[in-house]
Amino acid sequence: MCGIIAVIQERGVVAPFLHQALKRLEYRGYDSVGVTTIANNTLYTKKDKGKIEEVHKRLNLDEMPGLIGIGHTRWATHGAPSMLNAHPHFDCEDKIAVVHNGVIDNFIELRKELSEKGHKFNSETDTEVIPHMIEDFVKDGLGLIEAIKEVTKRIEGTYAIVAMSTEESDKIVCTRDGNPLVIGTKSGASYVSSDIPAFLPMTNDMILLLDGEIASLTTEGIHIEKLSNGAIVDRETIKISWTADQAKKSGYPHFMLKEIHEQPDAIKETLRLRPEIVKEAASIIKESENVYMIAMGTSGHAAQAGRHMFASLAGILPSFELASDFPDTVYGSLSEKDCIIAITQSGETTDTITAVKYAKQHGSKIIAITNVVGSSITRLANHTIITQAGPEIGVAATKTFMVQLTSLALIALELGEMTGFRNSKEIVKKRNSLEKLPELVSEVISRNEEKARRLASILHEKPSLLFLGRGISIATAEEGALKLKEISYNHAEAYSAGESKHGPIALVQNDYPVIFIAPSDDTRNRIVGNIMEMKARGAKIISVIQKDDDEIRDLSDYVFTIPEIVESEYSVMPYIVPLQLFSYYMALRKGYDPDKPRNLAKSVTVL
Ligand code: G6P
Repeated sequence: MCGIIAVIQERGVVAPFLHQALKRLEYRGYDSVGVTTIANNTLYTKKDKGKIEEVHKRLNLDEMPGLIGIGHTRWATHGAPSMLNAHPHFDCEDKIAVVHNGVIDNFIELRKELSEKGHKFNSETDTEVIPHMIEDFVKDGLGLIEAIKEVTKRIEGTYAIVAMSTEESDKIVCTRDGNPLVIGTKSGASYVSSDIPAFLPMTNDMILLLDGEIASLTTEGIHIEKLSNGAIVDRETIKISWTADQAKKSGYPHFMLKEIHEQPDAIKETLRLRPEIVKEAASIIKESENVYMIAMGTSGHAAQAGRHMFASLAGILPSFELASDFPDTVYGSLSEKDCIIAITQSGETTDTITAVKYAKQHGSKIIAITNVVGSSITRLANHTIITQAGPEIGVAATKTFMVQLTSLALIALELGEMTGFRNSKEIVKKRNSLEKLPELVSEVISRNEEKARRLASILHEKPSLLFLGRGISIATAEEGALKLKEISYNHAEAYSAGESKHGPIALVQNDYPVIFIAPSDDTRNRIVGNIMEMKARGAKIISVIQKDDDEIRDLSDYVFTIPEIVESEYSVMPYIVPLQLFSYYMALRKGYDPDKPRNLAKSVTVL
């Protein structure tokens, strides 16, 4: 949520790099954009409301002088999207420029105090108090680093802050508490950003900045200190395995479509996770009294499917709670005997991080499943599984969902072996079918892409759709409905097909589209009954079925087909694919950009 990039380099102009880096970060927010550089002791700024390329067309973001600069792409919290509210923000004398991600809770009080001292504010943002506070501390004789340290003592809330000043134009200073920042380094240049893909084309060498630390970046290197006591932090450089090409569209019209097509490889890579990492997770779970899965959004749907996998393969049924409501649901009933499986592709979702911190206070063990090395959750967890999707840029999660499911399946199989709930022959059989999923998902894509496009042209004018499934397929239905809502702005609801008779069926009348997730598992025959009920009321029936299921095919107006029978524990993985594609083509048909859905962001770092 909000993308930050900053760079300082020995030679060349930074503006074109900042512009491109912001485009790589645009999935974090895109209601306005801004860039400030320093040259000849002067700040040069271009910022405005709108997506990056719209603003670039108006202002030409590439033409700005200077070897040092900061940029920001915004997801509005305080103040509507506008030129004045766009970052960077400045002090009264236009010497200090600041970009910020997070929320300053006590900004009203600080703004009042600063206004009384004569500071003039240009925006409605919480961020703007920061450069004005820095200005005062600098006037009191402090350097930029010390001034920012003082500011952090006064602000309450969460933040990632990056600042630069015309008075010290040899450095960029950054600090964080609760919002992500990673540092990139190479000879002659230093970078800081909210996320790794921003600087990937320049360097694969990354240094983590932790909460409560402040860093100063120069062309010579990085200096990190602890905010609390000024202790110098000596942190090693990490080599990132992601490539710059992975963060490009590679000929696809949108990242989302590219990422849907990358799913078979993402599963394949995740299946290669080191066995001891999976074993360690399974032993923590086995030793625990209560097991909770917590997550938000798409990761929540992976968790819901994960519960079924654990129950079916290992005889353990974890509870699922939305991370945002976890503390308000468990009422302090957690203990050191419990274990929390926190699933988050970004590793930064504030709701999930807050719930994990709460569970830690109660002594519970934390297992994290995330796609981002070094993300906040990895530093809180007792044990981490890094999924192998590579960078995911599309805001609507697709391949990260697939690898979360893959990791959960691996843990469930391991746990099944440990608990003995399934005999070893069954586990071997289930393991073998998991190995076949990359190929199956690949076939599902080629079989259903054109069908998805066609269905979108049939249904694009329908205002509302219902998604129904039973058992593990409720997770598929929920994820299918979420994808559609997120990117094509249709009203879509997912329900247990069993529960659909208790309310949702009242919505159904002639031609109302109802999508059934109907794999050939134990739920199938009851789903047939639900299809009949909806059909009797005039619903348009769309089903996702196993290819030989002629009975459901005949009952349906439109079908997506899965070429093989899959083990029920893994059915979400192939069965979600046609629905991902359908959402994508619905968004296109309705004229929306599937990579940049309105009001959403890839990483949600506010509560
Ligand atoms: C946002 C994203 C979703 C994602 C959710 C949880 O809403 O748009 O795609 O599923 O956050 O994110 P996480 O990083 O915790 O998986």
